[in-house]
Amino acid sequence: MNFTFKKTILFLISTLLTFVFSTRAFADEERYMIKDITLNSGYTMPVIGLGTWSLSNDQAENSVYHALKSGMRLIDTARYYRCEAGVGRGIQKAIDEGFVTREEIFVTSKIMPSDYDRAAQGINDSLSDLGLDYLDLMLIHQPGWNDEAVYKAMEDAVRAGKVRSIGISNYYTPQAIDEVLSYAEILPAVIQNENHLYYQNTDLQEYVKQWGIVVESWYPFGGRGHTGEHFGNETIISIAEAHGKTPAQVILRWQIQAGFIAIPGSSNPDHIAENFDIFDFELTDEEMASIRAFDRQRRYENW
Ligand SMILES: NC(=O)c1ccc[n+]([C@@H]2O[C@H](COP(=O)([O-])OP(=O)(O)OC[C@H]3O[C@@H](n4cnc5c(N)ncnc54)[C@H](OP(=O)(O)O)[C@@H]3O)[C@@H](O)[C@H]2O)c1
Repeated sequence: MNFTFKKTILFLISTLLTFVFSTRAFADEERYMIKDITLNSGYTMPVIGLGTWSLSNDQAENSVYHALKSGMRLIDTARYYRCEAGVGRGIQKAIDEGFVTREEIFVTSKIMPSDYDRAAQGINDSLSDLGLDYLDLMLIHQPGWNDEAVYKAMEDAVRAGKVRSIGISNYYTPQAIDEVLSYAEILPAVIQNENHLYYQNTDLQEYVKQWGIVVESWYPFGGRGHTGEHFGNETIISIAEAHGKTPAQVILRWQIQAGFIAIPGSSNPDHIAENFDIFDFELTDEEMASIRAFDRQRRYENW
C-alpha cells in the first residue's frame, strides 16, 4: 500500500467517523429537544402544555395567552371546568397578536358525564364556547354508563371534521382499555390519567404501546394542595440543583423523558414559562431510575 493510498483511506475513515459522531451528537441533541410526538392518528401533539382545571374564565384567558406567548402550544381544558370561553379568548388574543396561528395550537377538551346522553351536542357546545371550528383532541372525561355511545359520537365528530384525534381519560386497567378497543373503529390516540411521582402509569403505558396510544398525565405535580410533597422531595431537589433547574422542571423533564405528555396547571405566568423551559437539559439514566423508584401506586383522586 503506497503512502497516498494509505492517506486516502485514513482520510475516508476519519471523514466517516466525523460524520457518524456528528450525526450522533445531532441526534442526541434532537432527542432532548423534541417538543412534539406523532399520534396514531397521524397528527402531532406537543409533549408539554397548560392545564386549566380550577381556573376561572378570566384566569384561563390570561394563562392560555401567557402559555402561548411562552411557546407552549398544547392547551388542556374540559367542558366540566366551565372555562372553555376563557380558554377561547386567550387563544384568540394570541392569534390576533400574530405570534401564533390556530394550526400551531393543539386544543384538548373532554365530554363531561352529564353530557353522556347528548355527546354530539356536548362536542358542539365545546366548539362554540371555545370559538373554534375543530378540536385537536376530544376525550371521554371518565368511564360512564354509556361510553360506547359517547365514543361513537366522538368518531362521528372525527368523520365530520370537528375533531382530529380522540381519546379516553381515567381508564386505568388493561380490561378497561380492551373494552374500549372492542367497539372502537378509530383507535384512541391518548389516555389521560392521574400520573405523577407517586402514581406512575408505567405498566399501562407499556400495555397500550402496541396500539401507539400515548399516556398523558394529569396532576403532574400532585394537584393543588399536594404540590409540596412533590416539590419538597429531597431527591428531586438534589437533581434540580445538579442541573440548575427547579423541582417543577425536573418533574416535567422526567415526565416527558419517560414518554408521557404532561399538562401542568397554573394561573401564574412565571410558573407557566418555567414549566416550558425544560428543553435545555436531560436527566441521566440513574436520575430517571431514582425517580421511577418513587412509584407507590398512590392516587389522590378516585374518579
Ligand atoms: N382528566 C381528568 O380527569 C383531569 C383531572 C384533573 C386534572 N386534569 C388536567 O390536568 C391538569 C393538571 O392538573 P392540576 O392543574 O389540577 O394540578 P397540577 O398541574 O399537578 O398542579 C397545579 C398546581 O401546581 C402549581 N404550579 C404549577 N407550576 C408551578 C411551578 N412551576 N412552580 C410552583 N408551582 C407550580 C399551581 O400553582 P400556580 O397556579 O400558582 O402556578 C397549582 O397549585 C389540569 O389543569 C387539567 O387540565 C384532568
